[in-house]
Amino acid sequence: MKKFAVFGNPIAQSVSPSIHKMFAEQVGESIEYDKLLAPLDGFKYEATAFFSQSDVMGCNVTVPFKGDACALADSLNKAAELAQAVNTLHKTSDGKLAGYNTDGIGLVADLQNQGISLADQKILIIGAGGACRGVVHPLLDTGIATLAITNRTTEKATAIATGADDSRVIALDKAGLSSYQPDIIINSTSASLSHTLPDMEGIDFSHCQLAYDMVYGSQPTTFMLAMRERGIHKVADGLGMLVEQAAASFTIWTAKTVQTAPVIQMLREQLVQKQS
Ligand code: ATR
Repeated sequence: MKKFAVFGNPIAQSVSPSIHKMFAEQVGESIEYDKLLAPLDGFKYEATAFFSQSDVMGCNVTVPFKGDACALADSLNKAAELAQAVNTLHKTSDGKLAGYNTDGIGLVADLQNQGISLADQKILIIGAGGACRGVVHPLLDTGIATLAITNRTTEKATAIATGADDSRVIALDKAGLSSYQPDIIINSTSASLSHTLPDMEGIDFSHCQLAYDMVYGSQPTTFMLAMRERGIHKVADGLGMLVEQAAASFTIWTAKTVQTAPVIQMLREQLVQKQS
């Protein structure tokens, strides 16, 4: 049996095992997929021990270990290198660890699931943490017109824009926001996890056709509700992004493609049932 796991701290909340087991069933793979809690200073040790097992094929990595996984990988794909964060490790046939970041592929795929064509669109990302860094280049690769980043701490947005080395990426402070009219607004902050909103003063919502929250839950997030109140009809949470990034990992490990829509639907139903 092929063995996989997701590493994080905390990790109890992770639905990755359910997602990957559904993918495996779809394509007739027999897998074991565990949740592994690593101590905050112990990712390298735990991951090395995990990969020393002969039947282990790969793992996912979540908060706070994506940087540690990047350091552990023997090679990085472009998205991981640019984000300096790895969410997928794959043990290759020569025993080396290949590191990938599939978060951005997941976001792009789920934006497309919303019926959005990204080419020539003006994007605004709120927040400049790891979640933002992981999606910048996959978004640029779709042919978007511009990507503006705004953040409570402006310097972090400026650092990502500078590091992106692409004139389409800009950092905006409150003053700059009023003259930028985004088509798509993405909340990459962790504010929805505590049911709060990032400061959105200065944002021009007049052209916005989709508001997307990378966080997900059983109910529409605080950000989604706020966007609806502002008259934005199309709002989405990050459940689809989670499933799409997992699908990209699964393909890296098995070279098999999977259907994401039934998995998104199943997880949505489970979330709603848990709540009621
Ligand atoms: P990381 O992903 O780097 O670990 P994080 O603590 O999860 O960071 O925060 C991600 C982003 O959400 C950051 O840009 C953070 O803003 P700061 O850079 O100013 O810390 C942003 N963020 C978190 N909570 C927020 C809130 N309540 N309002 C606005 N922004 C918030």
